[in-house]
Amino acid sequence: MSALPDTMQAWVVREERHGDPITAMQLETVRVPRPGVGEVIVRVKAAGVNYNHIWACRGKPVKISGLHPDEPLHIGGSDASGVVAAVGSGVKYWKVGDEVITHPNQSCGQCAACNGLEPLSCLQQKAWGFETSWGSFGQYTRVQAQQLLPKPKNLGWDEAACFGLKLFTAYRMLFVSCDIKPDDRVLVWGASGGLGSYAIQLCRAVNATPICVVSSPEKEAYCRALGAEHFIHRTDFPYLSTPATSAAPTEEMRQFRRKLRELTGGEDPEIVFEHVGAATFPTSVFVARRLGKIVICGATTGCDLHFDARYLWMHQKQIVGSHGCNQHDATRAANLVTKGVIKPTLSRTFAFADAAVAHQQLLEDRSSLGSFAIMVD
Ligand SMILES: NC(=O)c1ccc[n+]([C@@H]2O[C@H](COP(=O)([O-])OP(=O)(O)OC[C@H]3O[C@@H](n4cnc5c(N)ncnc54)[C@H](OP(=O)(O)O)[C@@H]3O)[C@@H](O)[C@H]2O)c1
Repeated sequence: MSALPDTMQAWVVREERHGDPITAMQLETVRVPRPGVGEVIVRVKAAGVNYNHIWACRGKPVKISGLHPDEPLHIGGSDASGVVAAVGSGVKYWKVGDEVITHPNQSCGQCAACNGLEPLSCLQQKAWGFETSWGSFGQYTRVQAQQLLPKPKNLGWDEAACFGLKLFTAYRMLFVSCDIKPDDRVLVWGASGGLGSYAIQLCRAVNATPICVVSSPEKEAYCRALGAEHFIHRTDFPYLSTPATSAAPTEEMRQFRRKLRELTGGEDPEIVFEHVGAATFPTSVFVARRLGKIVICGATTGCDLHFDARYLWMHQKQIVGSHGCNQHDATRAANLVTKGVIKPTLSRTFAFADAAVAHQQLLEDRSSLGSFAIMVD
C-alpha cells in the first residue's frame, strides 16, 4: 500500500445546506478513506459530471444523506479516472500505480444475485457516488475492486472520466434491456445530452436508426456529427415542455407521431429511449411500435408518469426499467471506446475549484451538449 495522506480536499454536500449545487457543494478538508476488504483507494485525476449529483445537492427526489448514516458527509461523483493509490486485502487484479476508470455499480459480491443472477438485483446494490459517499469529487475515492476497469490508453484523464455512467447506462438500456437489433428504429429523447449522445453512437454501431429529439439547430448539428440523420425539434411540439397531466393521446401527440412516421417511412420505433420522464412519457408509450419497448432510466422532468394503459396492453408494448450497469456491461461498453467505435462526448472540462459551477451550469444552461468533466488532480 502506498502511503495515503491523512486529509484531502473534497466537494461535500451536507443535509443542512441542501439546495442548488452552487450553495449545496462546498470545498472542505476531510479525512482520506482507507480501503476495506476488497476495496481500492484511487487518487482521482478527473471526475465526470452527472445529473444524479443535482438530486444529491437538492436532497430530492431521493434524499441521499440518510442513505449512508455511518458517513455524515456526502462526497458525490459517479465517474472517475485516476491511479490506484492503495489496495485492501483480498484485491486480486489491481495494484498501486494502475491507471483506471470506474463503473458505478456496487453490490455485496457474496449473495446469489451477485453470483449467478445479476449484481444489479443484489439487495445491497448501490450507485457509488450517489447512494454511497466517497465519490469522485474528492482527491481520493474509495471503490470496490470490481468497479475498476483499465483506463483506455487513447484518452486523456478528462475524456476517460466523462463517459462511464452515461455510456454504460445507455449500453445496458439498448443492448441488455432491449436487445437492440440492426435496422431497429430508436426514438432518442434528449439526443444531444449525456445519455442521448451515447445512444446515437450505440445505435449506429449496430446499424440501427436513431430518431433524435433535439431543441435547437446547434443540437441537431451536434447529433449529425455523431452519425444521426433523423430529427424532431421538440420546440415544434410545445406540449413536451411541461409535465403531462393527462394520459390519453391528444391531437398534439398524434401530430408528433405523424412527424415520427414521416421520418421512418411509416414505421413506429421498436425502442423508445426514455429518461425525460413526466413531460414525454405518455407520448413514448403512445408512439412505440406494437410489441415495442419503452426503456426508462430517469425522469429529468418528474417521476409522476402518466400513460394510457390501453396502448400498452392492446399493442403488447413493454415498459422496461433500466438502471446503471453491471461490471460486464461496463466492460463491453468500455471496449467500444478503446476500439474507437464510441467517442467520448466531452464538451467542457472544468477546474476542480469550479466543480459547483459545473453542476450549476448542467442545471441551468439547457444549451450544453454532451458531457462535462472536472480535473481533480
Ligand atoms: N438510472 C441511471 O442509471 C441513470 C444514468 C444516467 C442518467 N440518468 C438520468 O437520466 C437523465 C438524463 O441524463 P443525462 O446525463 O443525459 O442528462 P443531460 O445531459 O442533462 O440531458 C438531458 C436531456 O433531456 C432533454 N430534455 C430536457 N427536458 C426535456 C423535455 N421537456 N422534453 C424533452 N427532452 C427534454 C434535454 O434535451 P433538449 O433540451 O435538447 O431537448 C437534454 O439534452 C437524468 O435524469 C439522469 O439522472 C439515470
